[in-house]
Amino acid sequence: MRGIILAGGAGTRLHPITRAVSKQLLPVFDKPMIYYPLSVLMLAGIREILVITTPEEQPMFRRLLGDGAELGLELSYAAQAEPGGIAEAFVLGAGHIGDESCALVLGDNIFHGQGFAETLRACIAGVERGDDGAVLFGYPVRDPQRYGVGVADADGRLVDIEEKPTRPRSNRAITGLYLYDSRVVDIARGLTPSARGELEITDVNRVYLDKGAARLVDLGRGFAWLDTGTHDSLVEASQYVQVLEHRQGVRIACIEEIALDRGWIDADACHALGVAQGKSGYGEYVMAVAEASR
Ligand code: TTP
Repeated sequence: MRGIILAGGAGTRLHPITRAVSKQLLPVFDKPMIYYPLSVLMLAGIREILVITTPEEQPMFRRLLGDGAELGLELSYAAQAEPGGIAEAFVLGAGHIGDESCALVLGDNIFHGQGFAETLRACIAGVERGDDGAVLFGYPVRDPQRYGVGVADADGRLVDIEEKPTRPRSNRAITGLYLYDSRVVDIARGLTPSARGELEITDVNRVYLDKGAARLVDLGRGFAWLDTGTHDSLVEASQYVQVLEHRQGVRIACIEEIALDRGWIDADACHALGVAQGKSGYGEYVMAVAEASR
């Protein structure tokens, strides 16, 4: 399965912060926001990843992440000239996806919870076996009226999607992580842009829903799905990460640690990545993780 991180967009709800800097490069406590969605794909075992950004901001993402080789990844980059919608990721990423299945994660979404990697790998296996054409992840929210909401039957099959419903049939918001089989490129290419001129991810999901090929997996109450799109939610996400990291002594979304844990880099390589960032607590943590693994 190939991965895509969609990290373009205008970030207008974070103005003036995002007038000169990409939202996905802003700090969420101790690391850039894009580390969080990148770590999701890494936890899922995905190593070939396309990072889609605005054309102007691409050099900064390249400076931060490079070609991914030092993490055992293959990172490539594409530019989205205008915010043409989330589903445009599959049109821009057609060459990257080829005949493979694909995981798309939004660059401003943070996921954290026990057993997430196992859940992801089981869902990917379902798509690769052909059991599911699409897998969406639902998260219970207090205000489903603000979201795209999914309704599933007793077997977890997606039976309805409601966009910002006034009277929601479910409280399960559809999160910014999507798994699709290889048909997704043709489906995205065949979409008609919405009234706001965007290729809507909901329309992709409806195609799979109509085929009876979409699954909605519940992330459940013990899980955290955090939004970072507003001033308040950005600070709250930082505080969540800070509290957990201080309390537990582990770092969330430490990409060096995940690469080491997956066996994509060895302890020496991991330690060197820590040394390069050694004056920060983050760098010290990476060094300590490398030492502990020897
Ligand atoms: P949004 O939060 O919908 O949009 P935005 O990031 O531009 O922010 P705002 O509403 O404040 O203007 O986007 C969710 C994520 O998807 C975010 O990481 C940006 C990304 N995105 C793109 O990269 N291209 C797009 O065309 C769209 C719609 C979103």
